[in-house]
Amino acid sequence: MSGEVANNVQDLSIQENHIKKSIHKEDDDHVDPWNVVSKSDTGVDYDKLILKFGSSKIDDELLARFEKVTGKPVHHLLRRGFFFSHRDMHSILTRYEQGKPFYLYTGRGPSSSSMHLGHLIPFTLCKWLQDVFNCPLVIQLTDDEKTLWKELTVEEAYKMGLENAKDIIACGFDVNKTFIFSDFTYIGQRPEFYRNMIRIQKCVTFNQVKGIFGFDDSTVIGKIAFPAVQATPALSTSFPDTFGTKKIPCLIPCAIDQDPYFRMTRDVCPRLGFDKPALLHSKFFPALQGAKTKMSASEANSTIFMSDTPKQLKNKINKHAFSGGQTTVEEHRELGGNCDLDISFQYLRFFLEDDEKLEEIRRNYTSGQLLTGELKKILIDILTPVLTSHQEIRSKITEETLQTFMTPRKLC
Ligand code: TRP
Repeated sequence: MSGEVANNVQDLSIQENHIKKSIHKEDDDHVDPWNVVSKSDTGVDYDKLILKFGSSKIDDELLARFEKVTGKPVHHLLRRGFFFSHRDMHSILTRYEQGKPFYLYTGRGPSSSSMHLGHLIPFTLCKWLQDVFNCPLVIQLTDDEKTLWKELTVEEAYKMGLENAKDIIACGFDVNKTFIFSDFTYIGQRPEFYRNMIRIQKCVTFNQVKGIFGFDDSTVIGKIAFPAVQATPALSTSFPDTFGTKKIPCLIPCAIDQDPYFRMTRDVCPRLGFDKPALLHSKFFPALQGAKTKMSASEANSTIFMSDTPKQLKNKINKHAFSGGQTTVEEHRELGGNCDLDISFQYLRFFLEDDEKLEEIRRNYTSGQLLTGELKKILIDILTPVLTSHQEIRSKITEETLQTFMTPRKLC
């Protein structure tokens, strides 16, 4: 092992030990790929997380450079700070300026047949990035991961993956630039993927994944090996149909809880002669009951599914969306509502693109002029067409279209 490699490995374990210790401090938020719990009503402290994880803040300077390089206004998910942290985004922008290629990589662990509103966030940004940079995108469906972690059989997880692929396609991805693959199918199809997986597995010790993911002696061995599966799509040669044998770097938009996988990936890549993947990290989409936890497919009441009917949507928001308003109308008129705590307002920040309208709503709710029921109605009116048009597009996706997206092939 060369000195440089040994140093890299050491750096990683020191960093991970530090992360582990701070994650378990009483007053801290807990964020890992399986659990997100915050002690605060306004949710996770994301600035603290940047320090803990050692990533960089997406600041005004980066956003300005984004606009300068692409010649387009940045997406409101970036502008409003939902994507708040990054690694090496400047290098990707430099490559774009120089006309050098890169690709996008993202994924989805299929744990329910319908995706929910929160799942839409990374895909919405991916779609925008694909359009703006005009680059290929690979999407990994980790049906293997969900079989290992959830009460699901191989067959069930595989099937959910295909259902999720339809939700993903309905986000509007360009079929000429997008490859969606199920681990269960693709890994057996292309030996290049499996070979890269083993190359990665050879670089990472049990001790390291213990540190990064908290595995212990009773963890099933499938879980211990899995991080390499999620790392492999960051190596372009895992997709010979698309990239041939070229080593092309990638940009990974993901929720911040996925960062442990990619800290490991970034440690391994240079040792295998690949660039480290760049990352864009998003915040979590809050549960209906409040920002202490993220929206989760296993909690039906805290979740708006893409398949919900307008009536279900309306009931869930009216019944469960945590309100930052006062208990009586009189009190509300006098004291006003708290937009930082109010889930309906928080959702509007994701889905209402018009800055002026949003600001007007914020002002009126804060002053007490706008009541909670009225705010909820505004949200319902905005989300209803989001769901119905998604459902309509999804219902028109044929088996053939699905097959095309999922066939290994050259992308434009
Ligand atoms: N582990 C992710 C999940 O549970 C799925 C995933 C695989 C992913 N590869 C990814 C997410 C790359 C973001 C980026 O949903």
